[in-house]
Amino acid sequence: MKICVIGCGAVARRMHIPVFQTIPEVEIVSVVDSYEQLAKDVAKEFGINRYYADYKKALSETDADIVSVCTPSFTHADIILYAAKLGKHILAEKPLTLDLEEGKRVLEAVKDRGVQLGVVFNYRSVDVAQQVHAVLQQKKLGRIVSMIGVAHTPCPSSWTSGRWLYHEGGALDDFGPHLIDMLLWSNPSVVESVSAQGGDFTGGFNFISHIQVSMQFKDTSLALADISWLNDSFLFNLDIHGTAGRIVCDIRNGRWYKTHGQVLSPLTEMNRTFRDATKMIASVASGKYFRGGITYHSRSIAGFIDAVKTNSRPPITGAEALMVTAVSTAAKQSLKTHKTVYIDELI
Ligand SMILES: NC(=O)c1ccc[n+]([C@@H]2O[C@H](COP(=O)([O-])OP(=O)(O)OC[C@H]3O[C@@H](n4cnc5c(N)ncnc54)[C@H](O)[C@@H]3O)[C@@H](O)[C@H]2O)c1
Repeated sequence: MKICVIGCGAVARRMHIPVFQTIPEVEIVSVVDSYEQLAKDVAKEFGINRYYADYKKALSETDADIVSVCTPSFTHADIILYAAKLGKHILAEKPLTLDLEEGKRVLEAVKDRGVQLGVVFNYRSVDVAQQVHAVLQQKKLGRIVSMIGVAHTPCPSSWTSGRWLYHEGGALDDFGPHLIDMLLWSNPSVVESVSAQGGDFTGGFNFISHIQVSMQFKDTSLALADISWLNDSFLFNLDIHGTAGRIVCDIRNGRWYKTHGQVLSPLTEMNRTFRDATKMIASVASGKYFRGGITYHSRSIAGFIDAVKTNSRPPITGAEALMVTAVSTAAKQSLKTHKTVYIDELI
């Protein structure tokens, strides 16, 4: 399978290109960056023969089966639409698109052309997230009543020097999609309405630096996503309450537990804390301690390649990713109007 990687910035260099190069049946035939020198340097660094500044030229001159979209989020739609028209399969970085109307057009185009579209929401591949999801699927919590998710990071200036992140959406469109996706994935019901509070807490930069997105699902269950760029460390936590139990999950520290109505004694809490601390020390010592959601790209990318190879459903579909964009679009609208926004009116 031949791949063209479009965008040679942080996520392409750290994950997409090195991960594709570990998959035996995959060959990167070209890399593209609108900053041509970067495309040239990256091609040299990874031993890739062709580099381009223009993705249209790359796609006409190199015969790729799959396009990997690693460009700033606001550019995804144009590139995906173009690649779909040429009959290429597409693996897009999250979020699918920033704009919901663009997202809808993208889904129609891939359906019309019969190509595969996968989206990288790599936090789903983290071990504890997989374990929690399996428990939820077995309905061990009964019906979900409410979920509270927290996704905090420092401002991503040490991740990429790109300035494009500092637009209206800010943290909501950067780290937010991972948490919104996790909450939607966890709940078998469909989100019905969204309201949001927060915005720019930095004083005049005009992008969202902290936001709380509140969702109500069609079965009346609730979710709250607390998303921030204003923390000096990293948090990705979930607290899920069901009619038959509760799950608490801390992605960073690789720990989760569930309870089923029992009142926890201080001794139980102490034992758990001791067990978790021992596990954490062991994972630090063995080098397996969480080194960022980004390290799980290999699973997301391999899953997509497999789906293309077997012509089966990608692990994360365009339709699922569109719902994430719908929720963040609704949250932005709600911030402006101070009203609840109904997803059916947007989709
Ligand atoms: N899944 C994750 O955990 C994760 C992590 C980081 C970034 N991302 C996503 O990956 C995408 C890229 O993020 P990044 O951090 O690598 O950004 P970046 O700014 O480091 O890199 C983007 C690159 O794309 C190039 N570019 C811009 N427009 C282009 C175009 N039209 N054609 C070709 N090249 C173009 C830029 O010159 C830049 O080098 C974003 O959508 C982001 O949300 C996902």
